[in-house]
Amino acid sequence: MRNIRKDYQKGKPIVITDKTKPLDLLEIWINDALENGVTEPNAMNIATVDSNGHPRNRMVLIKHLVNDEIGFFTNLNSDKSIEIQGHSRISCTIWWPEMERQVRVEGVTQKMKKDLVEDYFFSRPRKSRIAAWASDQSKKLESRKKLEDRFDYYNSKFEGGDVPLPPFWGGYIITPERVEYWEGRPSRLHERVVIKKSENSWKTERLYP
Ligand SMILES: Cc1cc2nc3c(=O)[nH]c(=O)nc-3n(C[C@H](O)[C@H](O)[C@H](O)COP(=O)(O)O)c2cc1C
Repeated sequence: MRNIRKDYQKGKPIVITDKTKPLDLLEIWINDALENGVTEPNAMNIATVDSNGHPRNRMVLIKHLVNDEIGFFTNLNSDKSIEIQGHSRISCTIWWPEMERQVRVEGVTQKMKKDLVEDYFFSRPRKSRIAAWASDQSKKLESRKKLEDRFDYYNSKFEGGDVPLPPFWGGYIITPERVEYWEGRPSRLHERVVIKKSENSWKTERLYP
């Protein structure tokens, strides 16, 4: 590991054109990643804390980026969801290695409204909708076969009709309070720019790498 080393070259000075729209640059960077063929350009790591203050993180996909809010979908009985319901603050990181860029979004979560959830759920392929019914996410699974049997069960149950939205499936919207943009520069002199909420206005500042 000691000899794995990469000198980042791609970063340019980060320019925030409108600090009152802290996620504008995130949208631009996701589109840049998409155009450059990055795998899963909307994948982000989210960290939550449980009732003992123990942090836990995992990947999700950003499926909503509107009016300076981001959102993702999940099983509402999953560990992450239970943790969010107990403690609404969240920290998210997005990293595109090919772009030498990272974004961190810290903010507050709220449950996504049902119309938005439905809108997305019914746009998913049928098998993904069946899988949402079959997965008791984050709960103990006795065997792989049990999961496949549950998939087959719901597949037959909804055969010939639409696959409805499971009552335990939904999404979370994240309203940012602090957003940090990072770009790799040569000799580890990376760019870091933070946009953070202060009372009712937004402030930007630069950080040492
Ligand atoms: C690239 C990637 C994207 C993922 N996207 C989602 C997602 O959008 N929603 C989700 O519930 N799980 C997603 N997962 C699975 C989660 O990382 C995680 O394993 C699962 O949600 C259970 O997490 P929990 O037990 O902490 O709730 C994704 C995993 C990967 C690797």
